[in-house]
Amino acid sequence: MRALVTGVAGFVGSHTAEALLALGHDVRGVDVLTDYYDPALKKDNLRLLQDAGGIDFVQDDLLTTDLDRLLDGVDVVFHLAAQPGVRASWQTGFAVYADANVLATQRLLEATRQSAVQRLVYASSSSVYGRAASYPTDETTPTRPYSPYGVTKLAGEHLCTLYADNYGVPTVSLRYFTVFGPRQRPDMAMNRFIAAALEDRPIGIYGDGTQIRDFTYVGDVVAANLAAAFTPDVPPGTVVNVAGGGSITVNELVALLGTVVGRPVRTQLQPAQPGDVQRTGGTVDRAQQVLGWKPQVSVPEGLAAQVAWQRSRAV
Ligand code: UGA
Repeated sequence: MRALVTGVAGFVGSHTAEALLALGHDVRGVDVLTDYYDPALKKDNLRLLQDAGGIDFVQDDLLTTDLDRLLDGVDVVFHLAAQPGVRASWQTGFAVYADANVLATQRLLEATRQSAVQRLVYASSSSVYGRAASYPTDETTPTRPYSPYGVTKLAGEHLCTLYADNYGVPTVSLRYFTVFGPRQRPDMAMNRFIAAALEDRPIGIYGDGTQIRDFTYVGDVVAANLAAAFTPDVPPGTVVNVAGGGSITVNELVALLGTVVGRPVRTQLQPAQPGDVQRTGGTVDRAQQVLGWKPQVSVPEGLAAQVAWQRSRAV
């Protein structure tokens, strides 16, 4: 099969492309290489993909690129390109989120509608729930984002569902819960905490560190992506949680990190961040039913893998 991976140079995109190559698929990848974080990290990811067998890489913006050309001959699309991050989505930054997460998604869906694509997997987010009414949260829980970022991811998800309902575009939206592991974005908690611990700097904790996250290992997210793309008879417009299944506070994560790096870590409390929910946690029953997927990697195992990766890059 031929797959198109948008955001192929990013964290989840590069892992997904690597897994597709390992399975023998042809991979076309598109990425505009924005500078939200250091593009050199994305170029490193692209080099890994070249080493893993090579992809047909297009550096371009989904808002303007020739999508018909990009989708030519493509069987499955992994739409993983986005402007990520909860905390930067306020004020004038919002325009970038609206463009990348809403307008680009709508443009891609229009083009997909006219194509032979058999499945489009959309990277949605636990942030669509905001401060959820119940935990662990299932997919029928009302969505009420708490950050501008969450609004844009939910809008993208709604677009997938309505293109499915109106035109039968075969979308599957996966609500990822805080993804971690090797190649994690440098603005995210685990990457920042590990970097600080390895450099013997204090770890900056937003708020009081009692916030709870359902962290999900990137290998599990890739497995969910593949299941969403290749499981037969998944109804168009399906929405599924992809959650790690364990709940841990930021303070507990920091303590665990101390045991993994083998020395005490120092912390420094910083102001709580607007848009940051107190808790995330998702049920995975639907993922198991519809996709035959459940998470396999625990937070301690995944954290050890991410520490090993960040250590290897520090030398
Ligand atoms: C993450 C991603 O950044 C979003 O792109 C994604 O859509 C979202 O998960 C999701 O699951 O929907 P977040 O949970 O904020 O968002 O991820 P982290 O950056 O890993 O933060 C986890 C927790 O650690 C948050 O409560 C955050 O406030 C805290 N944190 C983060 C700190 O205390 N210090 C830091 O330096 C960074």
